[in-house]
Amino acid sequence: MKKIALSLLLVSAALMAAEDGATLYKKCSSCHGLQAEKKALNQSQVIAGWDAAKTEAALKGYKDGSYGGKMKGLMKGQVGSYNDAQIAAVSAYIATIK
Ligand code: HEC
Repeated sequence: MKKIALSLLLVSAALMAAEDGATLYKKCSSCHGLQAEKKALNQSQVIAGWDAAKTEAALKGYKDGSYGGKMKGLMKGQVGSYNDAQIAAVSAYIATIK
């Protein structure tokens, strides 16, 4: 019985750790578009087709303040609470929407 409870605990921890890029992208789509096809607030570049490494670098840059244009503060607010795994997951997802 103890063993079963322990393995259930491990399974749910693993599920929680696996970040779902599509879910993480939901809040982004209001500005960037469901297909990442829009210039967000008419300011950003169109990020559809960006490879994951490029998006990841941009998002980490927003987070630490080293990247962005005049509206970078807004993007910092968007990704400030995302950890590296979440940034990687959402970037990988964006690379798949074309
Ligand atoms: C409220 C609108 C809004 C939301 C929501 C939003 N963004 Fe942005 N995003 C912008 C704007 C505006 C810019 C351009 C900021 C600047 O001046 O650098 C931008 C820039 C970017 C860029 C870099 C593009 C460039 O022009 O260099 C990436 C990548 C990006 N956003 C990804 C995301 C992701 C991923 C999310 C969700 C976690 C998200 N954004 C949520 C408005 C938004």
